[in-house]
Amino acid sequence: MTPFGTIELTVYPYECDAFGHLNQAALLTLLERARWDALARGPGMDLFDRNGVWPAVRKATIEYRAAAFARDVLRVETTLVGRGTTSMTLRHVVRRVSDDAVVADAEMVFVCIDRVGRATPIPDEIARFLGPRASGGHEPIRVPAGDVELAVDVRGEGLPVLFVHGFPFDRTVWRHQLATLSRVRRIAPDFRGVGDSGAPPGADGYSLTRYADDLVAVLEAVGVRQAVLCGLSMGGYVIFELLRRHPERVKGLILADTKPEPDSTEAKRGREELTQVAQRDGQDAVIERLLPRLLAAATQATQPEVAGQVREMAHRWSVPGLVGALRTLRDRPDSTDTLRDVRVPTLVLVGSEDQIAPPDTARAMAQLIPGAQCHVVPAAGHLAPLEQPLATSRVVADFLRAIP
Ligand code: MLT
Repeated sequence: MTPFGTIELTVYPYECDAFGHLNQAALLTLLERARWDALARGPGMDLFDRNGVWPAVRKATIEYRAAAFARDVLRVETTLVGRGTTSMTLRHVVRRVSDDAVVADAEMVFVCIDRVGRATPIPDEIARFLGPRASGGHEPIRVPAGDVELAVDVRGEGLPVLFVHGFPFDRTVWRHQLATLSRVRRIAPDFRGVGDSGAPPGADGYSLTRYADDLVAVLEAVGVRQAVLCGLSMGGYVIFELLRRHPERVKGLILADTKPEPDSTEAKRGREELTQVAQRDGQDAVIERLLPRLLAAATQATQPEVAGQVREMAHRWSVPGLVGALRTLRDRPDSTDTLRDVRVPTLVLVGSEDQIAPPDTARAMAQLIPGAQCHVVPAAGHLAPLEQPLATSRVVADFLRAIP
C-alpha cells in the first residue's frame, strides 16, 4: 500500500445531525477534503488539472464503525491500494484522535477522465506521485535483437497487433490504444535508440533493415508468426521494409499518418540540419523545431497536455538514436511499388490536419492497395492516435474485428 497522506480534520457542529452525530454525507465531504489537502501538501492541488485529466468517483464503499461528534478531531489516513491503467483505488481509514477509535473505513475507486469525459490512462506525473503500481502493471519485457535489447509492452490475448511508433516518439504514442483495445494482443516496442530500448552508440547501428528485423525479433520473442502491423509515420516506413523482407509475417496493415514517397531534396536538407541540431543541442531542441507542424490547431488550443506528452517522448530518444533515425528517414526508398503488391486487409488512417502526410496523400496511398479502406480522423494532426484517441481506437477496433 502506498501512503497518499494523513490529514487531521475537526468535526464542525453544522456537519452533525439532530442527534449530534457526524452525518454520513458530511463524512464523505471530509474524505474529499482529506484528498485535496493531501494534494495541496504534496504535488499541488492542480496536479490533475495541469495534466488535463480529472479523477471521477466510480464506486464508494464505506463502513461506518463508530459515531463522531462536533469538535472531535479525526485523523484520515489515505493509502493507494490499487492502480490500473485508467483507474486507482484509495482506502481511507478515519480515526478519532482522542481515543484512536476507527470511525469509518472507506474504499473509493476513481477513473481518470479527460476534458470530454473519456476514460484516459493516468498521466506520467500523476503515476509518479502515486508510486509503484499495486496491481496490473505493464512493465515492458526485454527482447534481444542483435546488438541491443528492446523494451516491448505486451498486453492482452487474441489477434496479435504490433504497434510501431514514429519519429521522435516512443511506444507510448499508442498509450490509449494499448489501454483500450482489450480484445487483441497488443505488442508495442520502443525502437532501438529510444525510450527503454538499448541504443547502439554509432549511427551505423541504425537502418531501415535493422528496424524491420528488430520487429521480427519482437514477434519471434513473443511467439507470434503473423500479426497485424500498425505503424505511425516512420513506423509505416519501417513496416514497408518489413513487407519487402518478411511479407509472410503480415496478416493485415494499419497505416496511420504515413506515406510511401521518399524524401525530396529539400526534405533531405532538412534532415541534415536537424541532425546538426540533435548533435549540438540535444533531443529537446529537436522536438521544439518539429512541434509546430505536428499537432492540429484544435489539439494545441484544447489539449495543451498532448504537447507535453510529445516533448516527454522526444526526451526519451538518445542522440545516437536521433542521428541514426534521421539518416534512415533521409535515405529511405520509394515504397509505392511495395504497396501495390499488398494483398492483406488494410486500413489507412490520417488526421484531417496532418501537415506531414496529409489526407490527399493518404487517399492516394489507399488507392495503391487493393481493397484498402481510408479513414480521415477529424480535428487531428500528425498524431491522430494521441490527439483523437477515441475516434482512432474505434476505427481501429472495427477494422480488427473484421479480420478473421
Ligand atoms: C514521424 O512521425 O515518424 C515523422 O514525421 C516521419 C518523417 O519525418 O518523415
